[in-house]
Amino acid sequence: MLVRDVLIEATRRIKSISDIPNKEARILLSFYLKKDQIWIITHDNENIEEEGYFELIKRREKNEPIEYITNSANFYGKEFYVDSNVLIPRPETELLVDQVVSICRGMKRPRIVEIGTGSGIVSIMLKYLIPDAEVTAIDISEEALNIAKDNAIKHNQKIEFICSDLCENYVEKNFDILVSNPPYIANDEVLDIGLSYEPSLALYGGGIGDEILRKIIDIYQEKNIKYLACEMGYDQKEKIDNYIENLALHVEYYKDLSNLDRGFVIERS
Ligand SMILES: C[S@@+](CC[C@H](N)C(=O)[O-])C[C@H]1O[C@@H](n2cnc3c(N)ncnc32)[C@H](O)[C@@H]1O
Repeated sequence: MLVRDVLIEATRRIKSISDIPNKEARILLSFYLKKDQIWIITHDNENIEEEGYFELIKRREKNEPIEYITNSANFYGKEFYVDSNVLIPRPETELLVDQVVSICRGMKRPRIVEIGTGSGIVSIMLKYLIPDAEVTAIDISEEALNIAKDNAIKHNQKIEFICSDLCENYVEKNFDILVSNPPYIANDEVLDIGLSYEPSLALYGGGIGDEILRKIIDIYQEKNIKYLACEMGYDQKEKIDNYIENLALHVEYYKDLSNLDRGFVIERS
C-alpha cells in the first residue's frame, strides 16, 4: 500500500480511542519503518509492506498505550525506554523534579534518595539537573530497576540502584532529601482501560490509597531527613494534612497544570 493510504486507514481505525489519531498513526509508522517524520511526509507516494504496521495499529486499537508499543516515552524533553514493567512518565511528575531542584539550590552535594524509581526518570533527571548530587534510587520491582539502570546508562548518569521494599534493604546513609512519586490509587478504584496495561505495583497504594505515602512520611521521620518531596493524588491533601497534624512538620502543597493539588514538600525546621 502507499504510505498515504496506510496512514488514512490507520487513522480511521484508531479514531475512536485516540484524540490525535493521525499523529499517532504517523508516530507508529515512523517507529515501524525506522524512518523519521520528515521521511514519512516526503514519501507519501511510496509503496510499503503494511502488514506488520497494522499489527501495531491493532495493539493501539485495544488501547495499549503508544509508549509501550514504541518502548519510548518523553520526560523533561528527554527520551526514556519504557515497557509494561514500569509506569509511563506523566507530565505532572516534572513538577516533582522541579520541587527538588529548587530545594537543592545553594546546597553542596545534596544526597537524594528516591523511593519507587520505576523507569528511573525522576532520579536520572535530578542527576542531570543537579550534577553534584548523590542519588540513590529504590524500587521493589527488579524488572523496573533493570529498566531504570538501562536508562541511567543510556543517559550517562551515575546513580546507586537498590532493590528494596521501601527502605528495608538500603545501606544506612544520611540523606538530605527523600523524593517519591509512590503508588497512590485506592485498590478498588476502577481505572481507564489504558491504565490496565500499567503495572498494578506502580498504581495501587492500598485499600485507601495513601498507605504508601504515609509509610514514606514515617521513613522521613525515622531517618530524620531534612526534606520530603512527594507526588500525591489530587484528592489526598486532607488525608496528608490529617496524618502530619501531630508531627509538628511544615508542609507546602503544590498544584499541577490543571490547578489540582498534586504534591507536597515537607521541610524539617
Ligand atoms: C507511581 S510509580 C512511579 C515511577 C516513577 N518514579 C515515575 O514517577 O514515573 C511507583 C513505583 O513505586 C514502586 N513501588 C511500589 N511499592 C513499592 C515499595 N513498597 N517499595 C519500593 N518501591 C515500590 C513501583 O514498582 C513503581 O515503580
